[in-house]
Amino acid sequence: MAHLSFDGCDAVALAKEYGTPLYVVSERMIRGRLREIRDDFLGRYPNTGALYASKALQTLDILRIVASEGVGLDVVSGGELFAASKAGFPMDRVYFHGNSKTDAEIRMAVEYGVGRVVVDNLHELETLNRAATALGRRAKILFRVAPGVDSHTHEYISTGRLDSKFGIPLDRRVRDAYVGAALGMEGVELLGFHFHVGSQLLSNESHLKAIGVVCSLMAEVKADYGFETAELNLGGGYGVHYHGDERAKPLSYFVDPMMAELSAACAAANLRLPRVVVEPGRWVVGEAGITLYTVGSKKAIPDVKTYIGVDGGLPDNPRPALYGAVYEASVADRHDAPRDEVVTVAGKCCESGDILIRDVALQSPEPGDVLAVFTTGAYNHSMASNYNRLPRPAMVLTDSGEHRLSVRRETFEDLIAREL
Ligand SMILES: Cc1ncc(COP(=O)(O)O)c(C=O)c1O
Repeated sequence: MAHLSFDGCDAVALAKEYGTPLYVVSERMIRGRLREIRDDFLGRYPNTGALYASKALQTLDILRIVASEGVGLDVVSGGELFAASKAGFPMDRVYFHGNSKTDAEIRMAVEYGVGRVVVDNLHELETLNRAATALGRRAKILFRVAPGVDSHTHEYISTGRLDSKFGIPLDRRVRDAYVGAALGMEGVELLGFHFHVGSQLLSNESHLKAIGVVCSLMAEVKADYGFETAELNLGGGYGVHYHGDERAKPLSYFVDPMMAELSAACAAANLRLPRVVVEPGRWVVGEAGITLYTVGSKKAIPDVKTYIGVDGGLPDNPRPALYGAVYEASVADRHDAPRDEVVTVAGKCCESGDILIRDVALQSPEPGDVLAVFTTGAYNHSMASNYNRLPRPAMVLTDSGEHRLSVRRETFEDLIAREL
């Protein structure tokens, strides 16, 4: 029986060498996506920029890979910014996002000299102005706006609606307060706007609608304030394959029509085409990762279902419990065997909701088998917890048959290291 091969590596051998649960992430595939960004966006359109949304998967190795491919970075907390700095990421290529930045994080962003702060509320704007002025700096900012478009994705990852915790509503009364205030501040330089309509989008419809909305905004602030938008950040959100017929679209499927729409709208409204920035996260790393587990139990409930239990679950992948995410899997020991048994893959946590995959046809999994769950590169390692005191998994980076440990497995000692 053939073993599952991932990026030229035998998945069963990886499980044996590094233990399970194990995140396996292909450096080659991540570089492939970053190069697609370079070739099909940065190389094709002048005056553009690209950021990797590092919330999807942030480790020092991933940061170094992104930096080496010439792509910038979206960070969303002091911790992500600190790690970026430790990895030697060029700070002028870092954008600091977040809907509730602390005063300390705002000061940190100014001190580190990040390229842009993406401002989400008035309090943050005022704090940033004070922090930058005190340090004799001028922080370059974008306003995150809520374009009021509904994207067809799970409610928890839909972010561009009017009723959202993210972004500034475009109601004139609210928007005027922000733009007017920023233009009068010494410590900030307003460059433009940002939107992020949602995540795991397989259609470009919401992005295109949002372009129409921000183009109207750009025309209005030019008319009202004489302010010409210099930069527009179109967010990320491009979907990947998790299950069934879903297929990741090439980057060009999103960026080409957005650029065409934007150019046409700017020409029609007599606006200068701003610098355009995109910031995908999941699309860069999602399909580049798999998670390997060891099957620990099998329990058949007659006329109901068969459960198999694995040695991880909700703590290493909270997405199924958080928003019903659906995954595909394979028994790595018998990848080519017929999928002749329908089972439900349960995690090992004390939560009935800790189910990784419901009713999936697999190759008759048995205790001791290695189970591979696909497309776990994004929002798995970065969302992992220690619930039930489970040590977080190790991470191995692969590259065409080569593999190396990138993040070591947590130990029981690590679990109590902070406790006094
Ligand atoms: C502001 C912003 N940019 C980019 C992203 C990345 O989204 P995705 O991983 O879907 O590309 C997110 C995700 O939450 C976000 O909030």
